[in-house]
Parts: sequence; structure tokens; C-alpha cells
Amino acid sequence: MRPERPGDAPAIRAVHEASFPTGAEARLVDLLREAGRLSASLVAEVDGRVVGHVAFSPVTVEARSVGAGLAPLAILPTHRRRGVGAALVAAGLDACRSAGFGWAVVLGEPDYYGRFGFRPASASGLSDEYGGGDAFQVVELTPGSLPAGAGLVSYAPEFASLG
Ligand SMILES: CC(C)(COP(=O)(O)OP(=O)(O)OC[C@H]1O[C@@H](n2cnc3c(N)ncnc32)[C@H](O)[C@@H]1OP(=O)(O)O)[C@@H](O)C(=O)NCCC(=O)NCCS
Repeated sequence: MRPERPGDAPAIRAVHEASFPTGAEARLVDLLREAGRLSASLVAEVDGRVVGHVAFSPVTVEARSVGAGLAPLAILPTHRRRGVGAALVAAGLDACRSAGFGWAVVLGEPDYYGRFGFRPASASGLSDEYGGGDAFQVVELTPGSLPAGAGLVSYAPEFASLG
């Protein structure tokens, strides 16, 4: 697991294009990079080849608090179920903590993300723009950092490109 380096963009794009039904996630990563909003971007490398990628970008709770939004995450189909995704998420959360983020959110399968400490964000009074329900989850990276009070969590403007 290592941070993205200059020159990784085409390999990262290929990982997302092989993992999602459309090119929307691949484009989202490019847009976030161009906007300078890739807060953390890590790749998984096997034998010198990029086989996985995770991105984090800033999310805000009604301008009161800034956290890290995990999206997208993808591992090449040929390299799944070997713990690569788990290692990338763990390394990514560590990178976000080191960068000063006190909390992170994800919109994904609770069975998958629960192992990293993610819990339904609704229990902390947080909601998302997509009606994700229990799939919208939050994890505290630094004790006492969860935003106080209820609020809507907004992703970076580039997420509008997902439609
Ligand atoms: C989801 C994804 C990143 C997992 O990557 P991975 O490297 O296979 O994950 P790991 O090997 O770390 O973990 C595999 C474990 O997670 C479970 N798992 C994988 N995908 C899951 C899902 N969608 N829901 C619940 N559990 C899931 C597997 O059952 C496995 O559990 P086990 O180890 O107890 O058998 C990968 O399947 C992928 O790229 N999928 C397509 C893109 C995608 O859906 N991204 C997530 C968007 S939020």
C-alpha cells in the first residue's frame, strides 16, 4: 500500500473502470485530483502493478466540521478476496488521521465496512445527500472528533458528476 504518485492516474482509472458498471467512478477520481480535493489517495501494488485504489475527499457538515469521505474503493476482479481492500481501507484511514481528519464517512455495505469501525451515521445524527440509510456510516479517527449535533454531510462538488 502506498500513496498515489505522479504517473499512477491511468492505472487507477483502469482499476475503477474494471470494477464499476460505468466510467463514472474513474472520472470522479480524475475530477477530484484536478480540483485538488484528493485528501488521501492510496494504491495497492502487487509485483509492481497497481491492483487497487482508494480515495478520500473532504466532506462537510453544514460548514461546522470537515471529515474525510471514502470513495471510491476498488480492487481489480483478479485480486479480490485476499485482503487487499481491507489493507487499503486501513492504510487510508491511517493516512486521513495523520492528515488531521478526526472522522470519516462511507456509503457502502455495513457488513464490509463494520470491520474498520464504521457504524451507521444516523446514530450520530448524521445524514447523507443520497438517502443511504444504514449504508451511510461514520468512524471516529480521533476520540471526541465526531461533529456535535445533527447535520447533513455534503460530499465534494465533483460527486455531482455521478448523477
Ligand atoms: C468491495 C471490494 C473493494 C472488496 O475488495 P477485496 O480486496 O475483495 O476485499 P477484502 O479481500 O479485503 O475483503 C473480502 C471480504 O469482504 C467481503 N466482501 C467483499 N465485498 C463485499 C460486499 N459488497 N458486501 C459485504 N461483504 C463483502 C467478502 O465476503 C470477504 O469477506 P471474508 O474475508 O470474511 O470472506 C471489491 O470487491 C471491489 O472492488 N468491488 C467492486 C467495487 C465496489 O463495489 N467498491 C465498493 C464501493 S463502496
